[in-house]
Amino acid sequence: MNATNALFDPWDPEFIADPYPAYARLREAGRVHYFEPTDQWLVPHHADVSALLRDRRLGRTYLHRFTHEEFGRQAPPPGHEPFHVLNDNGMLDLEAPTHTRIRRLVSKAFTPRTVEQLRPYVEGLADKLVRDLVADGGGDLAARVAEPLPVAVIAQMLGIPESDRDQLRPWSADICGMYELNPSEETAARAVSASLEFTAYLRELIAVRREKPGDDLVSGLIAAYEDGESLSEQEMISTCVLLLNAGHEATVNATVNGWYALFRNPAQLAALRADPGGLVPTAVEELMRYDTPLQLFERWVLDDIEVDGTTIPRGSEVALLFGSANHDPAVFADPAALDLARAENPHISFSAGIHYCIGAPLARIELAASLGALLRRAPGLRLTAEPERKPNFVIRGLRELLVEL
Ligand code: HEM
Repeated sequence: MNATNALFDPWDPEFIADPYPAYARLREAGRVHYFEPTDQWLVPHHADVSALLRDRRLGRTYLHRFTHEEFGRQAPPPGHEPFHVLNDNGMLDLEAPTHTRIRRLVSKAFTPRTVEQLRPYVEGLADKLVRDLVADGGGDLAARVAEPLPVAVIAQMLGIPESDRDQLRPWSADICGMYELNPSEETAARAVSASLEFTAYLRELIAVRREKPGDDLVSGLIAAYEDGESLSEQEMISTCVLLLNAGHEATVNATVNGWYALFRNPAQLAALRADPGGLVPTAVEELMRYDTPLQLFERWVLDDIEVDGTTIPRGSEVALLFGSANHDPAVFADPAALDLARAENPHISFSAGIHYCIGAPLARIELAASLGALLRRAPGLRLTAEPERKPNFVIRGLRELLVEL
């Protein structure tokens, strides 16, 4: 066992329960660590994660510059193709110039003004979900508030009929299994069948909207396509799946991780209840930092780079540890403490560089809306059972969060 394996074991339930002490040991041990089980270079410091996200010598893909063989990598097994066709045509897994073209189109739906216009709808929906939870005397905060809010918002933006929305969560969950480290064949098989079903569903929806356009994002993408903006049907489908998945997975987890953190820090929760108007904006940022919903993002090394005197050659993969960067004492005073009033909070939870989260302004509105509604309508909200963590490392969340009033 090499030294890194002893410091970092992302499959250990103890690590999943609380990875932050292990990150602290990893940061102390150095700025870059080769991790044999995933054949990746781990980068745990905030300054390095932040710099590498902006470094054009790295990319989410290498296929815009090299074939698999040229890059010294194997093509994925042919059986996984439906997942890769879907995933690899989404902007998150593309680089310039394709990324630039698609991002420009989608950005139109996410300008600060467009997103701000959604605020009353998001707040109204959050209020209704919380009222229903309160009327029942409590329940599972994940299933009753954290999930339905962002799912409804992104489905509404894309124009997914209400009756079809229940399918989105299982498809998304099965596809997201592939973003964990070293996914199993069983995970891949589930992701492949979800990719096929999701693709078929969207192909049909696009056909319907082509006949009868609405004022939704799918209709907008079709119009751009027909105006010669060169968005292929596959890119359109992949963009919709990316928006639907990215548009809710992390928000769900940020909400439940955030409330679990509040319940474990009663003095901070009391301060928030005493001054929600003053503290909600900084609380949203601090909760996203404190228990980071997406713990790691990967980049391919397209040209040799050097980190702290170590050369990381072309063809390597780096794993940028967002959860660790967000707890780096070089940037955050007393990083293990939840401080809802933290003023300086350059957390990296929304990434940086060209893939910076396009939905960040919307996510902030959603998180503030559910937090505000729960503080207002359920002032005595408390946990009824210790929640169980999902066994995943990269996408960090809870199976459920049972609460009463
Ligand atoms: C708390 C909630 C959220 C978190 C923590 C989050 C986090 C992230 C991160 C870290 C990335 C970049 C990954 C990388 O650099 O490799 C990203 C990209 C992205 N996010 Fe989010 N996100 C959230 C909510 C949303 C929402 C609500 C939407 C859409 C409605 C969204 C849509 C996207 C899209 C489309 C990208 C790809 C951007 C690109 O490649 O240019 N996200 N998100």
